Amino acid sequence: MKGLVLSGGKGTRLRPITYTSAKQLVPVANKPVLFRVIETIRDAGVEDIGIVIGSTGPEVRAAVGDGGRWGVRITYIEQDEPLGLAHAVKISRDFLGDDRFVMFLGDNCIQGGIAPLLQQFGTSDFNAQIVLKQVATPEQYGVAVLDERGQIVRLIEKPRQPPSDLALVGIYMFDASIWEAVEAIRPSWRGELEITDAIQWLVEHGRRVFPYIHHGWWIDTGKKDDMLEANRLILEEMPASVEGFVDRDSHLIGKVIVERGAEIINSTIRGPAIIGEQTRIINAYIGPFTSIYHHCVIESAEIEHSIVLEHCTIRDLPHRLEDSLIGRHVEVTRSPRKPKAYRLVLGDHSNVGVL
Ligand code: TTP
Repeated sequence: MKGLVLSGGKGTRLRPITYTSAKQLVPVANKPVLFRVIETIRDAGVEDIGIVIGSTGPEVRAAVGDGGRWGVRITYIEQDEPLGLAHAVKISRDFLGDDRFVMFLGDNCIQGGIAPLLQQFGTSDFNAQIVLKQVATPEQYGVAVLDERGQIVRLIEKPRQPPSDLALVGIYMFDASIWEAVEAIRPSWRGELEITDAIQWLVEHGRRVFPYIHHGWWIDTGKKDDMLEANRLILEEMPASVEGFVDRDSHLIGKVIVERGAEIINSTIRGPAIIGEQTRIINAYIGPFTSIYHHCVIESAEIEHSIVLEHCTIRDLPHRLEDSLIGRHVEVTRSPRKPKAYRLVLGDHSNVGVL
């Protein structure tokens, strides 16, 4: 069994972060989503992993390397343009050969791993197995219709009147019959080769396509709010640990992780929260569901339910920051300059809410 991780794409929903970096490398609970995906696949016993990369390929290569750190072998597959999930599969044929494989979207997080489902697929004679999850708003997803034997008979993208509440999660398992399907389908109205069309082709040509119903949480981190939600869920599952320095005037309440080299001075941190390596928290309050990555300074400020990437400075704020995703090397400070005014340098598609 091989693994295929999709880490190309445009990432338009996560601008401006994705103007300068890959969304799959945004850290959730201080670890890039893509690293979590690699670990999930490795923990299910798959060591041969292909990663499809696009315009952010050099950054992904630099961050992931050859996979040795996780005990896996990584092969990079370049996709010239993000022409769809089925296109990403199509260009990976040399790497995958005729092996059975699991395909995982590089910006998805799943609770509890995928070992049980890979075991089931590995020992079955199914041609494909698709992970589904019961959702409250199926009209926002691709949904699957099952027959009385439990086999998938139809997939529908964002149906206005959903015939089922089983949504497609970004994890798929295929055997070599997928090759005929991805060759046969044509681009959709949005110009992409859709994986749902390839699966529908398999169903219509009598292949055995079965669901795997996932009961834990699953998050597609394509948007800021979903990123924050994944951060919240993962932080809740992590045990507290303090490897950095916490002075006597500080209070750590609930599950707090202080990574090596971090310093907490005269501050209160209410978990679940994580403070990254070499980050300094001074006279500050860090509230629940907050991840501050490495080499940041948070001083005389309050922040809650947010993700802050590396090398940021947040200082002297008169009000609390909340629900925020802050990119690398960002400075948010109070300015003593007169006249009193907001002074901003923001990239395209930035989003600021002032008081
Ligand atoms: P999406 O989130 O569906 O697409 P996107 O990354 O282009 O984002 P947006 O809709 O905000 O513009 O992609 C799911 C995953 O698959 C993501 O990790 C990117 C990856 N992908 C590819 O590798 N190649 C592709 O051609 C596409 C469409 C996505």
